[in-house]
Amino acid sequence: MSMSEAEKRKLGFDTRCIHSGMAVDRETNVLKRPIVLGNSFKLADNLAQLPDAFDWDISHSFNYPRLRHPSARYLEERLAALEGGEDCQVFASGVAALAGVFFSLLSAGDHVVSSRLCYIGVHEFLEEHLSKRFGVRLTLVDTTDLDAVREAIEPKTKIVHIETPANPTTHVSDIAAVGEIAHQGGALFTVDSTFSGLVTQRPIELGADLVIHSLTKYINGHGDGMGGAVIGPTDLIRKIQNAATVHLGASISPFNAWLISRSIETLPLRMARHSTNAMKLARFLESHPKVKFIRYPGLESHPQHEIAKKQMSDFSAMINFGIKTDDPMKYFDFLKSMKIVSHAVCLGHTESLIQFYPQAGDHPELGVLNYPEDVGEGFLRFSVGLEDADDLIADLDQALAAVK
Ligand SMILES: Cc1ncc(COP(=O)(O)O)c(C=O)c1O
Repeated sequence: MSMSEAEKRKLGFDTRCIHSGMAVDRETNVLKRPIVLGNSFKLADNLAQLPDAFDWDISHSFNYPRLRHPSARYLEERLAALEGGEDCQVFASGVAALAGVFFSLLSAGDHVVSSRLCYIGVHEFLEEHLSKRFGVRLTLVDTTDLDAVREAIEPKTKIVHIETPANPTTHVSDIAAVGEIAHQGGALFTVDSTFSGLVTQRPIELGADLVIHSLTKYINGHGDGMGGAVIGPTDLIRKIQNAATVHLGASISPFNAWLISRSIETLPLRMARHSTNAMKLARFLESHPKVKFIRYPGLESHPQHEIAKKQMSDFSAMINFGIKTDDPMKYFDFLKSMKIVSHAVCLGHTESLIQFYPQAGDHPELGVLNYPEDVGEGFLRFSVGLEDADDLIADLDQALAAVK
């Protein structure tokens, strides 16, 4: 006997990771959803049923994959069930999901309050494009400071957007408190929860209207696919579907949708191991004489540790640390000495990755990104993977020893 998606929603989180969005294929009886690659779907040959293929309310109706295709729909059912939202829209990338939200819900003259410390692509999209070119007014604030958020709200504020923990700094914003301020001001509250890996944080339960994920990171988790998602109430998801999938066209490929859906089945196991490993690595770095500073939401020394403890079930696996040196070029002695950990962009993979963020203004030749000043002294962003923690500790230890 099979269960409906609504019945599956009552199951435990780990069970939902495996069974939501999944059903026996009617034609082959295969237990796993197949990848559907075709890009054209048979329409009804009678006038009464013809509109069904274009009706978002019919969950498994398809006409053209830029709008929706079966592999994306199965993933959407899974993500909505896990995040606890009514519905979900997936996109080709995390940035496409964010752009889809802002493009669909904002108009010229609207005002947005957003985290000053967040993924640089979002920062640039809001500032360089929506604000400077399309007349959306923007106030960037430190959303860890509730007074600053409160002061930034205006009568025309349409969206308050936070990212927590934030990329790259791991700053943690208080989801429930910022949500309350946003709603008191009549604004929608959107939360980019990518760094949480979904398992460790429940933004909708804390008041978020929309939750956004880069699926490219922990949720796919194997460093081999790209996607993005927005989860929330049906009316908002419909608006985003109508505007963004049709007119931005950043649709996820069936293969990526299938890959990400498959990866979700092990997400709780992976996140548990990511968090345990990260805590061990954070404690090691905290006590290392060559480490100048460390930020990890699970450490008591993190500026928002108490908020992280309150709103996260575990602390995920993103760490920042600095090395005791006055010369940023010495960071390269460390990076080239690592044997297991790769110096690379991206995060949330099975393998550990590390990326150098040089001090703003110091070395233009290093291609410093335009992060706000308080990112500070230059640091490493460390995405702790699933390797043996002892091997990672040994690798970092020998690489730190190479910095003279
Ligand atoms: C918090 C956060 N949101 C969104 C994105 C963008 O995701 P994608 O690279 O899948 O477009 C990133 C990428 O690093 C991120 O860290």
